[in-house]
Amino acid sequence: MSDRYLAFANSAAGRRLVGALGLPAPLHLERWMAGRTRPLDGALLLGGDGGLASAVLGFANKLSNDLYAPGEGQFDLPRWTAEHGPKLKALVFDASGLSRFEQLGELRAFFQPALKGLANCPRVVVLGRAPESLKDPLAASVQRSLEGFTRSLGKEIRRGGNVQLLYVGKGAEHQLEGALRFFLSPKSAYVSGQVLRLSACAEQVKDWTRPLAGKKALVTGASRGIGAAIAETLARDGAEVLLLDVPQALDALEALAARLGGRGLALDIGAEDAPARLVEALADGVDIVVHNAGITRDKTLAKMSEAFWNSVIEVNLKAPQVLTQALLEAGTLRDHGRVVLIASISGIAGNLGQSNYAVSKAGVIGLAQAWAPILGKRGISINAVAPGFIETQMTAAIPLTIREAGRRMNSMSQGGLPQDVAEAVAWFAQPGSGAVSGQVLRVCGQSLLGA
Ligand SMILES: NC(=O)c1ccc[n+]([C@@H]2O[C@H](COP(=O)([O-])OP(=O)(O)OC[C@H]3O[C@@H](n4cnc5c(N)ncnc54)[C@H](O)[C@@H]3O)[C@@H](O)[C@H]2O)c1
Repeated sequence: MSDRYLAFANSAAGRRLVGALGLPAPLHLERWMAGRTRPLDGALLLGGDGGLASAVLGFANKLSNDLYAPGEGQFDLPRWTAEHGPKLKALVFDASGLSRFEQLGELRAFFQPALKGLANCPRVVVLGRAPESLKDPLAASVQRSLEGFTRSLGKEIRRGGNVQLLYVGKGAEHQLEGALRFFLSPKSAYVSGQVLRLSACAEQVKDWTRPLAGKKALVTGASRGIGAAIAETLARDGAEVLLLDVPQALDALEALAARLGGRGLALDIGAEDAPARLVEALADGVDIVVHNAGITRDKTLAKMSEAFWNSVIEVNLKAPQVLTQALLEAGTLRDHGRVVLIASISGIAGNLGQSNYAVSKAGVIGLAQAWAPILGKRGISINAVAPGFIETQMTAAIPLTIREAGRRMNSMSQGGLPQDVAEAVAWFAQPGSGAVSGQVLRVCGQSLLGA
């Protein structure tokens, strides 16, 4: 569904009116285009001093060929100043060396001048060490305070920019390249204010142009909306895809499967024979499983029928658990597999009229957290992606006023696109993304709900 306000706010007349009335001024977000190879199209400023910056230096020229540092001679890079430097497309600050409250001023010293020289849709990543990994309580508190900083900067940066915090564990430095290829590129267009923990992972992406080459992927609910975008994106990245949806969606499913060189499977994931039929359809094994199929049956709890309650929990929560279990027991899900569950910010913040849906989506987050240590023994990761307001048929059905509120109540003042969720899933599906497990990544434009 098109966002007419976004188009209006970006017209000449609209820009004037929006500015004069102080209304939200959403910018057209840059998105990844097919054929692009470099993650960053512009200058990258690298600062901070904690040991992780040197890990970034090792591959930074693969991200951008325009690298700068804030200090004279720092990292042997040219010095950037707001007066003489080019507009900055990305900032990476290594805060992992900060261990005393007085050092927190280094954040201000690095970011304040840089904020004066930002290009449109800038990307910011702060690197730190997970507080729970530090013995010194002061250092742990300082590292924890980075969350408040990055989340606030996400709300201030504007221009379609975003800000994330990555806590990098010992040995996880090798997976920084994959993470920064996602977070510094337009692939993370609608992700902001997120905090993720990276841990060591032995697997590496071999070819960044096709990071999923040789992998087999299953996507449920793949005939339209977010699921169709996920299937397209996984196929773009080299995976062979099996697209699953209800029998009523067979035509759309087969058309998309044919276009992507994959297969379609008409199956209701809640049906009793679904686990056996899925195992049979994936007889050669599967590496990537994306539980995307989902439904809403909204009513306030006072008016919620048993059928509404049960159907949402069956499809959104029980089916992903039952199918994952079946794929594991049959030996279908391979070692080093990647499982991604599509949750929702409703499962984090709760939502009026969605107690059944919020139960199911919070439960899905619980599945990722509970399965992670068990599956980790086989090198399998499992994570949840929690979309906010994404422009699909599901959100087009929301009443106008609630829909407008959902669209604007985030740092980007607009809804996301199915592609935004798909890019996050595709990153989680990569071999090196075994560095992240049992976590939730929100793709919500830093929605105010549940923030
Ligand atoms: N659109 C959003 O803003 C938004 C926000 C948060 C979370 N989500 C979640 O993202 C996922 C995709 O949402 P969407 O907006 O693309 O919805 P959609 O309604 O456009 O697509 C959902 C797909 O799942 C399929 N499906 C439903 N029940 C099924 C079943 N029993 N067996 C097999 N397939 C089934 C549908 O046929 C459909 O193709 C869902 O899990 C949804 O809860 C969406």
